[in-house]
Amino acid sequence: MSVSVLVGSQWGDEGKGKIVDILSEKYDIVARYQGGANAGHTIQIGEKQYILHLIPSGILREECECVIGNGVVIDPKALLDEIEFLENHNISIKGRLFISQNAHLIMPYHKLLDSISEKGDQKIGTTGRGIGPCYIDKYARKGIKIVDLLNRDELERKIRVNLEEKNNLLKKVYNHEELDVEKIISEYMAFDAAIDPYITDVPLYLNEAIDSGKKVLMEGAQGALLDVDHGTYPFVTSSNPTSGGACVGLGLSPTKITSIFGIVKAYTTRVGLGPFPTELDNEEGEKLRQWGAEFGATTGRPRRCGWFDAFLVKYSRMINGIERAAITKLDVLSNLDEIKVCVGYEQNGKKLKSFPTTEISLSKVQPVYESLPGWKQDISNITDYDSLPSETKEYLSFISVNCGFEISIISVGPRRDQTIVL
Ligand code: GDP
Ligand code: IMO
Ligand code: MG
Repeated sequence: MSVSVLVGSQWGDEGKGKIVDILSEKYDIVARYQGGANAGHTIQIGEKQYILHLIPSGILREECECVIGNGVVIDPKALLDEIEFLENHNISIKGRLFISQNAHLIMPYHKLLDSISEKGDQKIGTTGRGIGPCYIDKYARKGIKIVDLLNRDELERKIRVNLEEKNNLLKKVYNHEELDVEKIISEYMAFDAAIDPYITDVPLYLNEAIDSGKKVLMEGAQGALLDVDHGTYPFVTSSNPTSGGACVGLGLSPTKITSIFGIVKAYTTRVGLGPFPTELDNEEGEKLRQWGAEFGATTGRPRRCGWFDAFLVKYSRMINGIERAAITKLDVLSNLDEIKVCVGYEQNGKKLKSFPTTEISLSKVQPVYESLPGWKQDISNITDYDSLPSETKEYLSFISVNCGFEISIISVGPRRDQTIVL
């Protein structure tokens, strides 16, 4: 368990933040490998709640060092606000946060282009944080990186070149007001001093740490079904949250990884648009939303809710290589007489062999359900497995068998202490 990847196994918001916080007690370093401030990872300690967007969820453990890898896209303003928020809560950041010189910067035009694109015909329901446009520039080799903050002339040159193109696009294609080049240059020049102390050669730092015996937990954002390659494209994010993304996003060889851990919500949620076969677009779904407080940690949007989809999570297990899982939000199901689990999909009366990821094929499938008895009892204060009701154990075992992994953590509430470690 010395170098582990932690992935969201569904459409994000599985409770990764809470579980990273629990696990980080046993790790020296927690490293984020993709995504940006589109993520919202919640950690609750006692009555205090922290929502992290860019900084790894290990930051609340004083002895833990935290890394933001090259695969992450960083909005410098969001980063500095987060650092300030944590420091105001007496959490020290200096000397504990290491940011890759190769991470790309989110620029004001990325956020603007994200919002303009969402007003068009190809709406995705993004978080509006500029994620897609920033990754577009990265792959078009036009991006501006953290390391560019260190060279003022280069930073200015790159901003001018990019803005010439973006302003043309804004004016001629979108009929939008141009952005103020000088204002953006001076704004980004000012980030230099504040971010400088954290800039690190992350691959070297991490590889040396691992070679010296340190334990590293790689924290994914979003979830497998939001992966740009393996998710429900085009209704995905623009990075690779799946476990393979961890190596690319941090500069580590796959041979260093010793375990892969999946975070699995006891039912399914999704924010934004896109197919969702087990969605409960009715009163039952509304109940799950209220019981689970399913509102986005980044945008506050209501999350769409539905039954647990074992066929989807089994696919996620395969593409990620999940060996062990944390089942979260089990307490949310406590009021139900009967709980349904999707065990497969049918199309025209035929059972599907593999999980279809395209929008058209997913919209045509019929989920096949099995029903399990509810436990109708508050489990949110139970701290050992044996004390769980027999129906809860049956539900857990059903998930484990149908998805094909071992369950090693059960979460029965948002707080640190509402966790059963097996
Ligand atoms: P993440 O993006 O995967 O880190 O998840 P979010 O933080 O966006 O959403 C998970 C929400 O569920 C947060 O509000 C957590 O505080 C909360 N949560 C996490 N685990 C549990 C649990 O076991 N039970 C309940 N009721 N809430 C939980
Ligand atoms: P965490 O890490 C849930 C969704 C958005 C949208 C799609 C694309 O908290 O689990 P983007 O802004 O990334 O271009 O939006 O992806 N999305 C998330 N959904 N949890 C997240 O992160 C998400 N990050 C992005 O709602 O459907
Ligand atoms: Mg979230």
